[in-house]
Amino acid sequence: MYDFKPDPSLDVAERYRQLCDAADALTGGEPDAVANMANVAALIWEFVPDLNWAGFYRVGKSASGGEELILGPFVGRPACIRIPVGQGVCGTAAGEAKTQLVEDVHAFPGHIACDAASQSEVVVPVVRNGEVVAVIDLDSPRPARFSEEDAQGLEKLAQILADRI
Ligand code: SME
Repeated sequence: MYDFKPDPSLDVAERYRQLCDAADALTGGEPDAVANMANVAALIWEFVPDLNWAGFYRVGKSASGGEELILGPFVGRPACIRIPVGQGVCGTAAGEAKTQLVEDVHAFPGHIACDAASQSEVVVPVVRNGEVVAVIDLDSPRPARFSEEDAQGLEKLAQILADRI
């Protein structure tokens, strides 16, 4: 049994340190990308409060041979399966290879609503050998839920996962 329940009194930075340590321990030595993404989605759900969706989109091939984001393992409600690179919050993070911290999803041009409950969102690219291979996406029903500290913690997590997913 894995028991990674965080102490509710942890500050944000320590919470992400523990999340990263747990993710490192769970994915280290496991070559299966789906298993690793599934476990990390579950860990994010345990460690980060006030979420309604947490998971992965991977960069893959579209029917026309271009690149798009394809839904990966997640916790939350069923979500959009394919997102063109450059569209929505996830596609922007992938296209620009840059974290998107969105206080109000309704104010983000082209935001793709997968769950009407989502009010704020953070999306972090996972970069391997200079290429975006996936994004980590967290949604919250609370406006302005995510801070720079969340972004930094998730960027560290993305580094750990870069060659494990
Ligand atoms: N809101 C995202 C789509 C994915 S869902 O939030 C799970 C976007 O605009 O890219």
